[in-house]
Amino acid sequence: MHQKLYDAESEINYLNYFMNITILLGSVRSDRQSHYLAYYLEKILKDRNINTDVIDLAKTPLPIFGQEGEDRKNVNHIGALLGKSNALIFVTPEYHGSFSGALKNALEYFSADFIKKPISVAAASAGKMGGINASTQLQHVILSMGAYPLPKKLLIAEIQNAFDNSFIPLKEDISRLANSFIDDLIWFTDAIIDKKLKEKQVTFN
Ligand SMILES: Cc1cc2nc3c(=O)[nH]c(=O)nc-3n(C[C@H](O)[C@H](O)[C@H](O)COP(=O)(O)O)c2cc1C
Repeated sequence: MHQKLYDAESEINYLNYFMNITILLGSVRSDRQSHYLAYYLEKILKDRNINTDVIDLAKTPLPIFGQEGEDRKNVNHIGALLGKSNALIFVTPEYHGSFSGALKNALEYFSADFIKKPISVAAASAGKMGGINASTQLQHVILSMGAYPLPKKLLIAEIQNAFDNSFIPLKEDISRLANSFIDDLIWFTDAIIDKKLKEKQVTFN
């Protein structure tokens, strides 16, 4: 018989306790704009009482993967954050028709931490296409790491006009699209957590 893992009343506690969604931000240049998108998504998750961290590769830079004598401090710090994540959001700028090199470098380090985890992609561009090329290519890479790319992407065109300095969107549709994007990730992450708990035969009561 299927044993229930949690009941409806405890669902909120269940989510708070278990769900941890980490945002990995792949924009590092000094005049960057994509960080507005990453920190806005963090705010949405926090408002929903979801545990979250932003891994900001500008604040915790990584050495080039594979270089000899690399400094492991930030590698270890980021690895610990990813290890406790149930799901991720990759936030990338569109650079030359793809996602950023800084993000790709990070993926080489941590691909093992993404296996069987849901990952949503949010992309930003200065132009009107909202990082469509970056996002589709990144979804392919997510597949190749054995993770689950969510079908719904969040694409922010003209990112330089999209947020105020407090990370609040200046256009109404951004809030609607971002919340729907987060809804989908939470839905799928919840299903994956449930499955992983069943596999471990963890039960409550
Ligand atoms: C190296 C580089 C390449 C870029 N290539 C593209 C591109 O192919 N298509 C595009 O729409 N925008 C391109 N942009 C503009 C970025 O999308 C824009 O800077 C946007 O603000 C997001 O990147 P940011 O987080 O670095 O600010 C490029 C920017 C840089 C710095």
